[in-house]
Amino acid sequence: MDTTQVFLGLIAIILAYILWFSNLCRRLNTGPNLWPVVGSLPYLFMNRHRLHDWIAGNLRQTSGTSTYQTCTLAIPFLAYKQGFFTVTCHPKNIEHILRTRFENYPKGPQWQAAFHDLLGQGIFNSDGDTWLLQRKTAALEFTTRTLRQAMNRWVNQTIRTRLWKILETSKNEKKSVDLQDLLLRLTFDNICGLTFGKDPMTLSLGLPDNPFASAFDSATESTLQRLLYPEFLWRLKKVFQFGTEGKLQKCLQVVENYMSSALNARRENPSDDLLSRFINKRDQNGNAFTDDVLKRIALNFVLAGRDTSSVALSWFFWLVMNHPEVEDKIIDELSTVLKQTRGNDPTTWVRDPLQFDEADKLVYLKAALTETLRLYPSVPEDFKYVVNDDVLPDGTMVPAGSTITYSIYSVGRMKTVWGEDCMEFRPERWLSEPVTKSGLRYRFEPPQDGYKFVAFNAGPRTCLGKDLAYLQMKSVASAILLRYRLLPVPGHRVEQKMSLTLFMKNGLKVFVMPRELKGGVGVATCA
Ligand code: HEM
Ligand SMILES: *[C@@H]1O[C@H](CO)[C@@H](O)[C@H](O)[C@H]1NC(C)=O
Repeated sequence: MDTTQVFLGLIAIILAYILWFSNLCRRLNTGPNLWPVVGSLPYLFMNRHRLHDWIAGNLRQTSGTSTYQTCTLAIPFLAYKQGFFTVTCHPKNIEHILRTRFENYPKGPQWQAAFHDLLGQGIFNSDGDTWLLQRKTAALEFTTRTLRQAMNRWVNQTIRTRLWKILETSKNEKKSVDLQDLLLRLTFDNICGLTFGKDPMTLSLGLPDNPFASAFDSATESTLQRLLYPEFLWRLKKVFQFGTEGKLQKCLQVVENYMSSALNARRENPSDDLLSRFINKRDQNGNAFTDDVLKRIALNFVLAGRDTSSVALSWFFWLVMNHPEVEDKIIDELSTVLKQTRGNDPTTWVRDPLQFDEADKLVYLKAALTETLRLYPSVPEDFKYVVNDDVLPDGTMVPAGSTITYSIYSVGRMKTVWGEDCMEFRPERWLSEPVTKSGLRYRFEPPQDGYKFVAFNAGPRTCLGKDLAYLQMKSVASAILLRYRLLPVPGHRVEQKMSLTLFMKNGLKVFVMPRELKGGVGVATCA
């Protein structure tokens, strides 16, 4: 064989590939922005800084021009099953994936392989019986009052001893703070307390570095990176400890050591945290969980509950700063409720974070938080693996072995789902007619179709921490808003970070101003 023959052979292979790929693109294409030869690559590249909005735009266009509510994205030069992504945001399709045909849409082997080093077979990273057993065990714990109390205790403590001090200092020194950073630290501390009974105090004056938190961050980041590559590539990198893979191993060791000491501490001195409870549980064969399994279980909860509520709170504060009429109503509701529980003097309202019964009464605040999650869901896109060939309710074919993405971000931004004003921040859409009997003006009313709002997922794998998250978010939101008014730092740009969690790329820089509250017997208003 001479070089010409090799060359011609190569050309033939490339041409065959292009024909095959283009044909697949044509066959699977239900939406815009899928070209022969290059697939969606140029669009993905051009829109890499605004992927969620781009996906929402695609879906809006597709549902406007065809009966499909789904579009396909394709990346050339990858295997068929890794290169084609079906993306949908139609509530009927989402219900099909998350509930009706739950068994056909697990997390899947690629996801599990990527996360295995960090999460093992924990609840967040398993399917089938392994998942079900942990889910059942954990679900029991999450409904107990003691877990709610534990959460409130951790939140209470962080707010009183650290958050308020930091904000007070910032107010007095007239220095801006990155609120997102403070909130990330706060929820990390809370979830560690709740999960294994130890508060790493990453939120403290001076915002110190914490080796465990940094190692955990870095391990999560390197793990997510794996999802961007075909499996054999990161496996190869792992063997040679190359780049992020080398770093991952080091970080995992730090995390491992920290968890070992936490586990030993809980064995000696059990508390009301999740780890202490799992130490006393048995697996399906009646055996106690091994140390390794217990550590993984705990890490899964830390990962599940750490950043989600803080990014939700960051978007909440940003939206509230830009909607003074909503801010007024939140303060108004808080004043009304606290007047009932603590009396007319506003200094008693800001002395302590919320009690349970107070948090339960804050219906408008709950609506504002939920409305935030509709527009800025902490998990913007979620993925499932397709076990067997299937047809979605809108008629889209999904081939076995491929990945289906449901865009939680896009559901909230579809006129067909939320109406003409879907892009507006309007907490009222979650409230019923005024209710006066109980002394509260509104009742919270979730939509009839539970699959219109999936920020906490839905079906058998619904977020277990939803109620705890609302408790925590209400407590933090009230603790900040009752004491302070926040002002955006001029020139600071709030942008989305392209990640599996909807962080603000440059954080949320704010100035902290004092808040005047009006007590007395009349209707309280914000001065
Ligand atoms: C605003 C805050 C939160 C949001 C938006 C949220 C959202 C979600 C979502 C979308 C999932 C599904 C992920 C998937 O399977 O791909 C999930 C699962 C889960 N969440 Fe949350 N979450 C929040 C807070 C929390 C908190 C504070 C905890 C723990 C205390 C928690 C514990 C869990 C657990 C254990 C799962 C796994 C459930 C399972 O797979 O069976 N979440 N959450
Ligand atoms: C918060 O902690 C303080 C001091 O320990 C306590 O007096 C207060 O009752 C706690 N509040 C809640 C809501 O637990």
